[in-house]
Order: sequence, then structure tokens, then C-alpha cells
Amino acid sequence: MQFSRMEKLGFGVLVTAWVVWGTNKIGDTLVHAQEPEKMGFDVAVADQSDAAEAAPKEAEKPVMELLASADPKRGAKVFKKCTACHSAEAGAKHKIGPNLWGIVGHDQGKAEGFNFSGALTGLGGKWTMEELDKFIADPKGYAPGTKMTFRGIPKNSDRAALLVFLESLK
Ligand code: HEC
Repeated sequence: MQFSRMEKLGFGVLVTAWVVWGTNKIGDTLVHAQEPEKMGFDVAVADQSDAAEAAPKEAEKPVMELLASADPKRGAKVFKKCTACHSAEAGAKHKIGPNLWGIVGHDQGKAEGFNFSGALTGLGGKWTMEELDKFIADPKGYAPGTKMTFRGIPKNSDRAALLVFLESLK
């Protein structure tokens, strides 16, 4: 098939326009990705999309206040993040981390047949709901040097659900 000169020219213009437009788009995307805080309007839009995460509403009430209405079934789902390293059934084997059956109210850093780091054996207290909450929010912040390589669960409502699930393991 033969193209006339005009057709080729037109085609060339189209391709050029497309490339220029595309480059702008990519440029925009990069700018958005790198400097979201300077784009006031865009940030407002983005915030709406994960409002549940960002807004200090129900989800961000203190965990101790959320416990009463927290759902252990949801907690069991959140616990899936832990099952790579922890079992939760009575008498189940330790994995990379200790078995967590009966953990609420249990001594910190003590479990038959599990070799804790000094970061946990040195705590010397009990795993109350408050202490578990702080540990699970930020394991390394709570027990610097812990060998639990898990970055924590930032969302309060997730931790509340997880805590009532852990409390049910008895
Ligand atoms: C990558 C593996 C890993 C993941 C994921 C993990 N843990 Fe751990 N966890 C450990 C290890 C290892 C220890 C022992 C830490 C130490 O001795 O410093 C531990 C210790 C603990 C302890 C202290 C137990 C005791 O008897 O003192 C609790 C409580 C705990 N983890 C809860 C959780 C929960 C809840 C989650 C999920 C939100 C979780 N962990 C996710 C590896 C993990």
C-alpha cells in the first residue's frame, strides 16, 4: 500500500503529537509521584481514596476504646499476617516465632522450648492488652533488638480486632 506525501505528513504530525503528549503524561506522573505535598488539589483528591486510612475517625480511636466493639473474626483475618511465623492453636509447635495460644496475660519472653532474644526476655512483664498493642504497633520500637522482623500493624482498628482474637485463644 502506498501513502501519499500528505498522508505521510499527517501521520508524522500525529505520531509527534502523540509522543509529546505521552512525554508530558509521564512527566506529570513522575512529578505527582515525587512531590505530592506540593500539589494541594491532587492531595485532597488522593486523601479521599484512602480516607479510612487517613481520617482520625473510628479507625484511629485509641485501641483500648475500640476493643469493646472489635470483631475477633476480623482479627483472625489480620492474624494471617502473623501465621508465617506464629501458630495459634493450643499445643501447636513454635515456628520462627513462639506459639501464641494463651498469650494475653502470659509472661513476656517465656515459652517452653522457644529461644527468645534478650530484647524480649529482658522485658520481664506480662503481655497485657496494652503491652501487646504497643508491641504489635511497632515491634522494633517497643523491643529494640527483637528478632521479630515484622514492621508492625499501623491501623488501630486492625490491632483492636487482632487483640480480641488473641484474647480468645484460651
Ligand atoms: C517474620 C516472622 C514474624 C512475624 C510475621 C510475626 N512475628 Fe511475632 N515473633 C517473631 C519472633 C522471631 C519472635 C521472638 C522475638 C524475640 O525473641 O525477640 C516473636 C515474638 C512475638 C511475641 C512475643 C511472644 C512472647 O511469648 O513473649 C508476640 C506477642 C508476637 N510475636 C506477636 C505477633 C503478632 C500478633 C504478629 C502478627 C501481627 C507477629 N507476631 C508477626 C516472629 C514473627
